[in-house]
Amino acid sequence: MASQPLRTARAGEFRAGDAGRDVRLAGWVDARRDHGGVIFVDLRDATGIVQVVLNPADEPAPAGVLRGLRNEFCVAVSGLVRERTPETVNPDLPTGGVEVAATRLDVLSPAEALPFQLDERAEVDEVRRLQYRYLDLRRPRMAANLAARSRAIRAMRGALDDAGFLEVETPTLIASTPEGARDLLVPSRLRPGHFYALPQSPQLFKQLLMIGGVERYYQVARCYRDEDFRADRQIEFTQLDLEGAFWGQDDVLATLEDIVAAVVSELRGVELTRPFLRLTYGEAMARYGTDKPDIRFGMEITELTDVFADTGFRAFGEAVEEGGVVRGINAGNQGLSRAGLDALVDRARELGAKGLVWLAVEDGGSLRSPVAKFLGDDELAGLAGTLQANPGDLLLVAADAEPTVSAVLGQLRLDLGRPKGHDELAFLFVVDFPVFDVGEDATLAPAHHPFTAPADVAEMRDHPETAVSRAYDMVLNGSELGSGSERIHDPEVQAKVFEILGIGAEDAQRRFGWFLEALRYGTPPHAGFAIGIDRMIAIIQGEPNIREVIPFPKTQTGGDPLTGSPSRVDPAQLSELGIELRPEVRAAWEEGD
Ligand code: AMO
Ligand code: AMP
Repeated sequence: MASQPLRTARAGEFRAGDAGRDVRLAGWVDARRDHGGVIFVDLRDATGIVQVVLNPADEPAPAGVLRGLRNEFCVAVSGLVRERTPETVNPDLPTGGVEVAATRLDVLSPAEALPFQLDERAEVDEVRRLQYRYLDLRRPRMAANLAARSRAIRAMRGALDDAGFLEVETPTLIASTPEGARDLLVPSRLRPGHFYALPQSPQLFKQLLMIGGVERYYQVARCYRDEDFRADRQIEFTQLDLEGAFWGQDDVLATLEDIVAAVVSELRGVELTRPFLRLTYGEAMARYGTDKPDIRFGMEITELTDVFADTGFRAFGEAVEEGGVVRGINAGNQGLSRAGLDALVDRARELGAKGLVWLAVEDGGSLRSPVAKFLGDDELAGLAGTLQANPGDLLLVAADAEPTVSAVLGQLRLDLGRPKGHDELAFLFVVDFPVFDVGEDATLAPAHHPFTAPADVAEMRDHPETAVSRAYDMVLNGSELGSGSERIHDPEVQAKVFEILGIGAEDAQRRFGWFLEALRYGTPPHAGFAIGIDRMIAIIQGEPNIREVIPFPKTQTGGDPLTGSPSRVDPAQLSELGIELRPEVRAAWEEGD
């Protein structure tokens, strides 16, 4: 005899036309209401909610079972779909025109008293949510985020499959490679004292695939970086990683537009305007003070150095004399009180400025400011003209070394103008990044990673501090969504980059000899990119941090409150790996720290 299916219909799919159907449903008790003996249950499954009516007169289950029914019990219900009377229709529910009159209810699995209410409105501490993530995932918001993630990844795969890309897996136990963050290490049992590293990204493997003739590669790749946690950073995260041979920047960016448009069309139902805006790194820094500008609003940083070239105002004059700049923003009408303006000046100082000049534009167009008396009439006029001041506007001006002014005004711009919601999605590319970042002590570090091609090899050799690279970023609403570059395919150029980075020939040979050798066997020019999938989904879903779109994320301190990782291990396991804990670590360990 064929066994009965556990269910024949799903809760979220009923509409008025389904009245009269005999169905069997299974799911969870989302809510129960008692109305003079009749019990109304909102039955929830992954597709939605439908109201079930349990009338004791129909004997759907023993009275004790009905009485004992609680939220989040897992149940099966058989019954008849019927139209609700007009006054009981629930317009807030897609299934609100019908209900299921139960003829039978089976408790498949009872639930203990819940550690927190799954109600969307209940504010629950995040550690507690993560400790009971399996319950948290039952909430509509989390369920929607998981579904969005799945649909987004499917859309990405679709776009790449259509373009002839191969999905190729690369190992997660690899040799350590330099990508900027700290590696996570895995000890080898068979070779005590030797370690695998978990990949910070599949960077070198995808380049090997290009040498291997794959030509078009992508992967939904898990990456591991032991860096400080932030709202948009996890110790493990997921990239859409891609690479192409005989490919350059324009090809990569066009493909990224296709991928992103497919995702946004899937999740938001809107078609993005293409091509996306492209700003050079220099433009982005000058106009927005950052390499990841939020272009949903104006308030651009404006050059004012010329206006104050001969100023008598000491704060500006000194900065200009020392080779710095004077720049400002027109923050529009902020309606700030004197205390609010003082707080703004404090904020600027906190961000590293020596001070901040504010000027309020009066009805007649004159500028009111504590420092107005130190500024000449032509300076005030130049300021108002350059910043296109209108009555009611607030003008903010800072003078200092260029990087400081950029950082301060860039942040104030965000503080004062950044839209709250995520309704608008403003994508752009930033191109022409420098090859190297120059550190405080003049040391050079790769601005992207050391496998990025310089725009001009001779320029890089002669002026590494200012040399431009073939690296580019994708930015969404002020967040860096992804990065990529054209790669070095000439082993001599690669060796030169290591040399400029202070990695000696011998050292480079020892650490990357295998890669330098691979480059010698007919390496095609190639380029690629990686999108941070977690960041992308979080922003499109309007979530404030990427943990909301990761099924089982780590907390801010790197732990998983559900499974208890990271955890101590059996001393025998350590001994097998040839590892001994330092005495003080061991002592803390034994105390249970
Ligand atoms: P990059 O290091 O810029 O480039 O990383 C690409 C994108 O990955 C995301 N991302 C993260 N997301 C969550 N948590 C983190 N800790 C984290 N770190 C990075 C970001 C970032 O823009 N191999 C190169 C790409 C290439 O050159 O092709 C790479 O990994 O969205
Ligand atoms: P001080 O000369 O430090 O008393 O500053 C006089 C005014 O100029 C104050 O309003 C400061 O906030 C402002 N100020 C000082 N230094 C700077 C600077 N580098 N850029 C902009 N404003 C400044």
